[in-house]
Amino acid sequence: MTLSDRLKDKSLFKTQSYYGGEWHSGPDTFAVDNPANRSKLADVVDVGADGAKAAIAAAAAGFRVWRKTSPFERTRILLKWYELINENADDLATLITSEMGKPWAEAKSEVAYGSAFIEWSAQEAVRIHGETVTVPFPGTRGWTIHQPVGVVSCITPWNFPSAMITRKAAPALAAGCSIVIKPAPETPLTALALAELADRAGFPAGVFNVICGDAETLGPVMTGSPEVRMIGFTGSTEVGKLIMRQAADGVKRVALELGGNAPFIVMDDADLEAAATGVAQAKFRSGGQTCVSPNRIIVQSGVADAFLDLLEKKIAKIKAGDGFESGVDIGPLIHDEAVARVDQLVKDAVAGGARIRVGGQPLADELGGSFYAPTLLEGGNFDQAIARNEIFGPVASVYRADDEKEIIELANNTPYGLAAYLYTRDIGRVHRMSEGLDYGMVGVNAPMVGSASTPFGGMKESGIGREGGKWGVEEFTELKYVLLAGVNS
Ligand code: SIN
Repeated sequence: MTLSDRLKDKSLFKTQSYYGGEWHSGPDTFAVDNPANRSKLADVVDVGADGAKAAIAAAAAGFRVWRKTSPFERTRILLKWYELINENADDLATLITSEMGKPWAEAKSEVAYGSAFIEWSAQEAVRIHGETVTVPFPGTRGWTIHQPVGVVSCITPWNFPSAMITRKAAPALAAGCSIVIKPAPETPLTALALAELADRAGFPAGVFNVICGDAETLGPVMTGSPEVRMIGFTGSTEVGKLIMRQAADGVKRVALELGGNAPFIVMDDADLEAAATGVAQAKFRSGGQTCVSPNRIIVQSGVADAFLDLLEKKIAKIKAGDGFESGVDIGPLIHDEAVARVDQLVKDAVAGGARIRVGGQPLADELGGSFYAPTLLEGGNFDQAIARNEIFGPVASVYRADDEKEIIELANNTPYGLAAYLYTRDIGRVHRMSEGLDYGMVGVNAPMVGSASTPFGGMKESGIGREGGKWGVEEFTELKYVLLAGVNS
């Protein structure tokens, strides 16, 4: 069965790029594969540099219209897009599972998670208020207004093919910006379906654009064009730094959501069952391919054995397989290189003294795709590559440590600072440790931190800016101060 056959609405299967309110072909194509079985799903158009330039010109024209569109009308169109996404959630989930691999039920949750950003931002569009400000000059009045930044380039990753688009696009559109999105080459089909639904929702031509193609060709156009005033990016810290350098020439604003190295801390007073369940949820969501996945599970020595026993039982039950099969908990990794990378991290940890308690090997031969076994490691040390790098795979690596101060130091000993998790029932500890952790988000007895209404983002090399909530919308506005003279008192 082809991917298009699987869709209820076959017109959501798109392979061209969408800009200026129309679908466009390009000079080339690239293949999109299903990581669960390596079959080809589609040949997608690569628009090339000229297509990227045309899309940005269309977005500049779209911006002139959209910035003047009433915020109430922006809300209406955004809510229409939100409704269409929810009505077509089954098909969007099918596209996500096919090109990214996560289980279909999880893909459907991603669609809901992602569309919530649209609902939230739509409601926020009519609440972007300025303030009156006190000024020291006689006979004057001062006030501030928030205006849209302008054309925004959004470069999005493959691990959340829907939610990482909506989390950027919705607040940008609510603020009055126009956008050009470049999805990851692994997962363009979900992005193009979202474009089809945006078209049906009625955004004016040029406001919402999606272009596909090679990052090295499209990237510099998206970051360097003078019409682009802001770049939103989710992906690796390495690429984030490159984007920041490219943006520097035009002093463009950046919002970067980059890599993480999340500590998951279990203190001796924690509810161990809840902590083990929390690791199983947070670590194996998206097959461990999220930037907030627990990377270093640091357990206070006194409870480490009991905790490991609980966690081992849970991980042993996690089933890897094709995301369309029932009973499957995690899908494949995105491609074979990802499997080889994760396997190398595990081998290196074992060579350095870590012990495998569950899994520890690729499952490509058994399952016929880019699979890695759900894995539990213990006994490694913090100098190993697996503790210093984002694993981005289904491997839970557990370390022991003694006191609170040492644990905070170990947790903070990384250039990253995105998400951290803390399990404790001591309220004093909750305050001391959450304040001491150099991370943008801390989940206390909570394994999932992201939501439409809360600020998502990191410190240090994990990024700049916040997505979600009022902060996510503010990122896409310029603050302007107006001073009026000649006011009679
Ligand atoms: C990400 O991995 O980039 C996002 C994860 C999330 O939103 O929870």
